[in-house]
Amino acid sequence: MIVSIEKATEILKTGVVAIPTETVYGLAAFLHCPEAIQSIFTLKNRPPANPLIIHVASVDDLMPYVLKMPPKELTDRWPGPLTLVLPVQGVPDRVTAGLPTAAFRIPNHPVALELLKRTGPLVAPSANLSGRPSATSPKHVEVDFGRDFPVVDGGSSEKGLESTILSEKDGMWRILREGAITQEALHDILGYLPPIVKPEGKPECPGQMFRHYSPQAQLVKEGGEVVLGFDMREYGKPVVSLGDVNHPEKVAARLYDALREIDERGYKSARVDLDFPTDGLWRTIRERLLKAMN
Ligand code: TXA
Ligand code: MG
Repeated sequence: MIVSIEKATEILKTGVVAIPTETVYGLAAFLHCPEAIQSIFTLKNRPPANPLIIHVASVDDLMPYVLKMPPKELTDRWPGPLTLVLPVQGVPDRVTAGLPTAAFRIPNHPVALELLKRTGPLVAPSANLSGRPSATSPKHVEVDFGRDFPVVDGGSSEKGLESTILSEKDGMWRILREGAITQEALHDILGYLPPIVKPEGKPECPGQMFRHYSPQAQLVKEGGEVVLGFDMREYGKPVVSLGDVNHPEKVAARLYDALREIDERGYKSARVDLDFPTDGLWRTIRERLLKAMN
């Protein structure tokens, strides 16, 4: 159910509402409303060990919580699809999953920014059932949470991939989750290539432990009833298209809609065409597809 910014502001005093961001839609609750935060975990069926990202309207909003402020070269990318894991105090344990750090970002979407100015800090995981493809439109939110679930309409998400998550160790920033800002772009910002931390053992980014982005259909490398592929390619079977292989930004924006379309069209299995470049945004797209295939 589409609600206005005014109505969403009202709901956020005690409850949960889905909001648009430039990456994906988020399921938002006020940082200091424990009941609403608990509802997020229940609604999504999210493991309690998976901490939430805190969204703020300005860098100053970090000050009450953060023990060491992030460098300007990174905060200059805000608002934008970059999440920074920082050492904190005074953030509820349920948000951090008991970690001494919390993840923050300023989203680049006029609706999200307007809401944040009205409400203060909002936690918001992606607005999908845990394990499913993220939501990039109000329709996706309604498919996962029902038609009566309140969502503020901000159009289709521009990026279509979640934010890139960075954390600092021994003076060096590293990528905990690949995302809408590429490793190459971060190289230009930081002056060195931030390594992509592979989740091993107990991962530093707890979300990496859990199943992600998967449609109900089985995604396979061979066979399949349909191909999740690209325009202008011949597969000899039905295709759910990710779009034009020459436009990674457009493929990214379409990725979760395409994964959801496989289920909507009733297919039980789909072969994924992984024949695309390995650099830039393609690296994130491949990471999402491989996770979805697990
Ligand atoms: O683009 C995005 O980041 C979207 C929009 C709504 O902002 N949000 C999003 O949230 O992707 P979610 O909950 O789907 O993913 C958050 C990720 C999880 O993998 C979680 O483990 C990680 O952030 N995370 C949160 N706090 C962390 C922390 N303190 N240390 C390491 N990872 C953390
Ligand atoms: Mg998510």
